[in-house]
Amino acid sequence: MSFTIALAGKGGTGKTTLAALTVRYIIETLGESTLGVDADPNSSLGHALGVEYEKAISDIREGVIEKRLDLPAGMSKERYIEYCIEECIVERPKFDLLVMGRPEGPGCYCYVNNLLRKYLDKLGTNYSYVVLDNEAGMEHLSRRTTNRVDLMLVVCEPTVVGVLTAKRIIKLTDTLPLSIKEKAFVLNKVPHDILDKKVEDNLLKEGLAAKARFFYDDELFFAASSGISLLEISKNNPTYQALGQFLREYLPQGGLQSVVGQKESI
Ligand SMILES: Nc1ncnc2c1ncn2[C@@H]1O[C@H](COP(=O)(O)OP(=O)(O)OP(=O)(O)O)[C@@H](O)[C@H]1O
Ligand SMILES: [Mg+2]
Repeated sequence: MSFTIALAGKGGTGKTTLAALTVRYIIETLGESTLGVDADPNSSLGHALGVEYEKAISDIREGVIEKRLDLPAGMSKERYIEYCIEECIVERPKFDLLVMGRPEGPGCYCYVNNLLRKYLDKLGTNYSYVVLDNEAGMEHLSRRTTNRVDLMLVVCEPTVVGVLTAKRIIKLTDTLPLSIKEKAFVLNKVPHDILDKKVEDNLLKEGLAAKARFFYDDELFFAASSGISLLEISKNNPTYQALGQFLREYLPQGGLQSVVGQKESI
């Protein structure tokens, strides 16, 4: 069974950046098979990983709903949807990428969403790790793109509003109809060693303890502004190194068979 890591947090906090670096850590350091899932309608995980895609899952959903699908002779709708999902997967030598695309419009999508979820869960089992990059709102998760998350990273910028939003997101994740085994709250784009006193007070008040702090990093910002894939930035990049140290603690060591006892949730 795969180990699923999901990223959540307020807009612009660094979810996609940390998702892409997580994919890189898994393929580069653990050497395990990985599926990156871009669950943000403004698909950007592909950019961060230097991968272009042609078809998104939403294209299948709309095709089925609008009955535009021309089923090949002798093929059931279910099997055809499975085939379409396979066609959406962008394969790279060390990882694959799947883009979810736009959210559904008005209309009943239950039937097709159920089929999609079933196949996506099945697809996940082909990989050791699944890394799920989410949009800022939690819509994809609340629509249950997936049923199970092993580790959710709640990403937060060290600002007063950032902390309040992170707390709200953590509360929201408690109400989602999906199983989240472990949550880790992390700070990103931290400007100095010492946090602002107000931010510290708010973290304390909200009972949030950061499991990692990633500093503001010029190389990351430059990579985004000049369209460089995060697979190409230096291996010694401080955020990549710090993320690796964090993930070493949270990801199963010695292969996925060793997933036993989870750490405390927040
Ligand atoms: N530690 C960091 N230091 C400097 N810049 C960073 C850092 N982390 C992310 N960024 C930059 O912040 C911007 C937003 O990052 P990113 O796209 O990863 O956020 P996001 O949470 O995925 O945003 P959205 O909610 O829009 O999907 C990007 O330009 C990215 O390069
Ligand atoms: Mg993003």
